[in-house]
Amino acid sequence: MSSPPIPSDYRFPDPPTAVELRAFTHGLQPQRVPVMMEHFAEDWRRFGVDAWNEIPNHWRPESGDPVGWWTLPTYLGNQFIAPLLDAPSGTCILQPSVHWTVQCLLSSPELAARGSDVLVPETAFPSVLHSVKQWSHLRDLSPHVVPSTSEQRVDQTTLLDAIGPTTALVALSHVGFTTGARLSSSFVRTVADRVHAHDGLLLLDGYHAAATQPINVTELGCDLYVGGLLKEASGSSGNAFLYVRDGLTLTPRLTGWFGDAAPFEFRPAPEPHPDVRRRFLGGTTAVAPMYHAVEGVRLLLDLGLDTVRDHSLALTDRALDHADALDLPLRSPRPPAERSAMVLLEIPDAEQLVAYLKRHHVYTDSRRNDVLRLAPFLWNTPADIDRAFALIEKGLSTGAYKEVPVDSHGPVT
Ligand SMILES: Cc1ncc(COP(=O)(O)O)c(C=O)c1O
Repeated sequence: MSSPPIPSDYRFPDPPTAVELRAFTHGLQPQRVPVMMEHFAEDWRRFGVDAWNEIPNHWRPESGDPVGWWTLPTYLGNQFIAPLLDAPSGTCILQPSVHWTVQCLLSSPELAARGSDVLVPETAFPSVLHSVKQWSHLRDLSPHVVPSTSEQRVDQTTLLDAIGPTTALVALSHVGFTTGARLSSSFVRTVADRVHAHDGLLLLDGYHAAATQPINVTELGCDLYVGGLLKEASGSSGNAFLYVRDGLTLTPRLTGWFGDAAPFEFRPAPEPHPDVRRRFLGGTTAVAPMYHAVEGVRLLLDLGLDTVRDHSLALTDRALDHADALDLPLRSPRPPAERSAMVLLEIPDAEQLVAYLKRHHVYTDSRRNDVLRLAPFLWNTPADIDRAFALIEKGLSTGAYKEVPVDSHGPVT
């Protein structure tokens, strides 16, 4: 396997010899982030209020494109999110979170005009699952939670059978966060065709798919695609995004004056912005996180998403070889076509093993104490995988990991 393509473009955590295998939670910080945050402080100081209208273009300086804080969400959507999703320009926008975006979508009266049911698999992430459960009733929609298979995957037959004339929306995870299982493009396309045959819409949550592999939203046939840049795309909080298919009309009731057609006319009644994406903005946009949002995406696009995917598969291949040698059962899929950028090993008391590895500066995580998650990415080498598994082998074979206390200082794992 080749060496990692661009490790020098990232900043490593302490100690520098640590092995960071938690890209599924947070990617490494790109080198340019401190510079970009310095630009934020400087633009704020130099231009004050006028920064909303115009600032230097720090994102595509060579383009000469005018930018200001006001247009940053759509500018970065066009320049960085659209290529990540192979989407046409004019369809993507930065968002504060997936949760917000899905709730905006569910607040749109156009959904209930298409049908009464919202279908969501029980394995969807809470940003989608909880939103569907909490918001559907407010808009005369009924949430239908589709049970999973015994392997916690989307039950494809049950889901397809559930789509019918009353379906307003189907909301799927492109990659399941509990399994790392990736939906095939042909299945997504089948769902899209069936939903569209009944005038419904398809939403994909690609938080764990975008930035790890080439994606083409047009070929997938989805109407909306949401995700965030916090993980493999190496952004931080407040760095989510939305794609809305060209020509789709939605007028979210959950919106704000930044999504208004004429915000500075302060009219008594709201008027939705002509650009549908912009209607998903709320109150005053938090611009600081946008300064660094796309620096990780820039690295991925420069490298090419095919190369990113090849490197990811090579690392997860290596992890699977080690797991097989140790007879460790897999929760995540084995076939490359179904695999995402994560390997999940079924290990009882996984949290203790995570703590043991952490003590040796190999950073992994666990979910519900029964799986160990390894999410290697661009900054990792084959040697990192070997080191992680040598420790796993030692910890398990000697039982040494059982003596390490789980030293969590907070709720985040
Ligand atoms: C599949 C998926 N969707 C959404 C989210 C979180 O979205 P947000 O916090 O922006 O609502 C996550 C976070 O881990 C996720 O894994």
